[in-house]
Amino acid sequence: MKIRFLGTAAGGGAPQWNCGCRVCEAARDADVSRTQDGLAVSGDGDAWYLVNASPDLRTQLLANPELRPPAGTRDVPIRGVLFTSAELDHTLGLLGVREAAELDIYATAWVHEALTTAFPLQAVLSGYTRVRRHAVRDGEPVELAGGLRVTATVLSAKQPRYASALAAGDSVCAYRFDADGRSFVYAPGLAAWSPEFEKMIAGADVVALDGTFFTEDEMGATRPASSMGHLAARDQLPLIEAHPGPWYLFTHLNNTNPLVLPDAPELADVTAAGAAVAADGLLLEL
Ligand code: MLT
Ligand code: MN
Ligand code: ZN
Repeated sequence: MKIRFLGTAAGGGAPQWNCGCRVCEAARDADVSRTQDGLAVSGDGDAWYLVNASPDLRTQLLANPELRPPAGTRDVPIRGVLFTSAELDHTLGLLGVREAAELDIYATAWVHEALTTAFPLQAVLSGYTRVRRHAVRDGEPVELAGGLRVTATVLSAKQPRYASALAAGDSVCAYRFDADGRSFVYAPGLAAWSPEFEKMIAGADVVALDGTFFTEDEMGATRPASSMGHLAARDQLPLIEAHPGPWYLFTHLNNTNPLVLPDAPELADVTAAGAAVAADGLLLEL
């Protein structure tokens, strides 16, 4: 199984265009830039699936040669897109690849509903390409191409601000990918290490964790990380130590998160727990 980290920042990227916070300023001064979160995963190195489609998707695809079309064709090896939520930073990128011959979209029923009613992404795309919707359900494996199996675990009912009028449902999930006996879990929106999540990561080789915020109060006392559906990375470090086995790495870093910076002192805490921080373009081969 191959996993390419296309982007490793939360919505808005790092630095964020309108932000002068300490981390964004340091990132500008050090020419550090992280694009918005998303992955490409393949069971056989030929058939690839995008996991989330950030607004930076086009540049992310161009930066990764294994996702290019063979010369003289438009046969890009991307067989579908899986969404972990209906958040704009996880879905807008599909508008930027509307030239695709077809788009197979995998998501929970709630996410499909949000992308039909609150944000009619799928209807807009249907004016440009053939859109096929595939429902993923909590705990039910789906066989993808290239020997890749994916299983969703619903993590929370956090809803995008634009879809707050919808009834609560399976709005945020994590995915476990299995191929050739190897396992990878991706959870960019993790509110708590629930028993379901602990079951999901058991035996996994690699777990990509929600690294949105380093501390619970990173955005100030009025906007705690937990209120936005994210368990702070620092609070996950003891949990990582209590669940040895997988290699853990943080992704989906908010622009305010000091871990955005490669020389952040906070990195020492992360490495002491045996974890790491993902980088744009990182390729894992399991
Ligand atoms: C989230 O993941 O919490 C939302 O997509 C917002 C964000 O990433 O900033
Ligand atoms: Mn996000
Ligand atoms: Zn900032």
